[in-house]
Amino acid sequence: MYKQSVEDPGKFWGKIAENFYFKKHHEGEFFDYNFDISKGDVYIRCMEGATTNICYNCLDRNINNGHGDKIAFYWEGNDPMDSTSITYKKLLAEVCKFSNVLKSLGVKKGDRVAIYPMIMELVVAMLACARIGAVHSIVFGGFSAESLSGRILDAKCDILVTADGVYRGTKLINLKEIADEALELCTQGGHTVSSCVTYYFISSTSMQMVWNKDVDRSWKDLMQSASSECDPEWMGSEDPLFILYTSGSTGIPKGVLHHVTGYMLYAATTHKYSFDYHPDDVYFCTADIGWITGHTYITYGPLLNCATSVMVAFEGVPLFPDPSRYWAIVDKYQVSKFYTAPTAIRALMKFGEEPIKKYSRSSLRVLGTVGEPINPEAWMFYHTVIGNSKCSIVDTFWQTETGGHVLTPLPGCTPTKPGSATFPFFGIVPAILSDEGVELEGPAEGYLVFKQPWPGIMRTVYGDHQRFERTYFTKFPGYYVPGDGCKRDEDGYIWITGRIDDMINVSGHLLSTAEVESSLIEHNLVAEAAVVGKPHSVKGECLYCFVTILEGSEFTQDLVKELKEKVRHHIGAFGTPDFIQNAPGLPKTRSGKIMRRVLRNVAKGNRDLGDVSTMADASVVEVLFKNRVE
Ligand code: PRX
Repeated sequence: MYKQSVEDPGKFWGKIAENFYFKKHHEGEFFDYNFDISKGDVYIRCMEGATTNICYNCLDRNINNGHGDKIAFYWEGNDPMDSTSITYKKLLAEVCKFSNVLKSLGVKKGDRVAIYPMIMELVVAMLACARIGAVHSIVFGGFSAESLSGRILDAKCDILVTADGVYRGTKLINLKEIADEALELCTQGGHTVSSCVTYYFISSTSMQMVWNKDVDRSWKDLMQSASSECDPEWMGSEDPLFILYTSGSTGIPKGVLHHVTGYMLYAATTHKYSFDYHPDDVYFCTADIGWITGHTYITYGPLLNCATSVMVAFEGVPLFPDPSRYWAIVDKYQVSKFYTAPTAIRALMKFGEEPIKKYSRSSLRVLGTVGEPINPEAWMFYHTVIGNSKCSIVDTFWQTETGGHVLTPLPGCTPTKPGSATFPFFGIVPAILSDEGVELEGPAEGYLVFKQPWPGIMRTVYGDHQRFERTYFTKFPGYYVPGDGCKRDEDGYIWITGRIDDMINVSGHLLSTAEVESSLIEHNLVAEAAVVGKPHSVKGECLYCFVTILEGSEFTQDLVKELKEKVRHHIGAFGTPDFIQNAPGLPKTRSGKIMRRVLRNVAKGNRDLGDVSTMADASVVEVLFKNRVE
């Protein structure tokens, strides 16, 4: 299948497309694209001319095939007593109702709707957007008001959908308050959101909230009178489906834009083959829908395959009510396919085997991982302890930009090696390039690139096509450059070695150093800041910040606290730095460029700095080691 998928991609994907409903079929070549910027604008089109609707394919098509009463989602709240489920038929009725609500608020095809996460209703809201052709832009619930407003402004969203609050462990997060602050910032930024629809999750009334009657609407009130029938909008294959922001190395997030048909085919196919999905499976992905993993592998992929999924209301490591929570859920629903992040596995390893062995986990067949390189120890723990040495481990490498898995083993088919994402998925042609852009053969290390398009690849950066070309297609014309380094071993296995740019991967979430640095510099005592990643036993990497403060001021623990708070406020809780150290001077080249390689070694306490001959003032290094924090 792989051979066919790369030799005749049109035939391969065309056959897969036959499983989906198209209102109008396409004619001509399956792909039309240009990856080579030296020959003109970069573009990717797939099945252009066809019309379809992804929501129809997720719901109506499955219901028409006789699966209306199948459970689409089992939902587990923060409190284990709080659980519910929804069938495909009921989900369609809810989606149609919310589609009608959106229409009544004036939302039309092509309009952008921001969603600041919440529970099961999030899936309803995103599918409703897809049904009427509106473009959803979901912002992870851990982001701050400032981050949320930046994203709403960039996409000029007219509507914001949110909830009053969510629980994370025992902590109640007041989402509505953050949303209100974000809307205020939007107005200050010159764009006023016309409606904010709030779902009361915590409370049944709006009593405790600030309620602006011009803007605020209650989800439940609007839904009460909405009809549960709504015809889908037939969308062109290359019409946009959603925007999802990802960190950019300049510090300004990029709105990754995915389009309807290509994303649909790729989400469904990767979900089917990477997890060896079968109709009687119960599938559980622990991600938050606010990230791409949730988009592709909680909502779209599983629903397109008519799967039954478990969805949880909490992200990260579920230690509530105890560290066995995942395994209690696995046994409760007899989960067969489980998908999580290395950071969660490492966090659970700390509690030992006992909380895991309390439950049988005998239903498990395939265990997936995503978000960052998985260290072999965590891989082995996943395999031997969590999977009772009888499950396939699938280490899936991909990005917000790729839409779905691009390197992954196939369960029961690909012999695995702990820590390697193994081989390309169908339709993916990777290569490893040297610094000079030469393709390296055999065992080699260099830049990971992809040579031809696949259906799920992003189409552009929202509102900035040049940034799309600059970021992914300019370094090596003719190739898509994801920004990761990799190694190929003597057996052809690919091993991701980490980012080649200034991005830091904290618990599977990419953060740009520039974005953190600009938050630090906002403090009036900070003259300069440089941020690097430091290895962390659970998070993979954490933020280690070097700050130079103004002459004559004092570096105190209060300042450290203020700076951490500043970054948290700017980005969100998950971006809070672990370390802030006083750096009276930063190591720079003679041309003034900060030598991050040296800073990474200082953060690690590694005195073997390599070649420092280009450093302008080598004496700063000793001071940095002296001020190092652990
Ligand atoms: O550096 C790679 C790392 O996460 C980046 C993509 O981040 P994001 O767009 O937020 O999407 C995360 C979920 C798909 C990649 O460029 N990454 C993701 N998965 C892996 C990985 N690194 C190594 N192994 C993986 N399996």
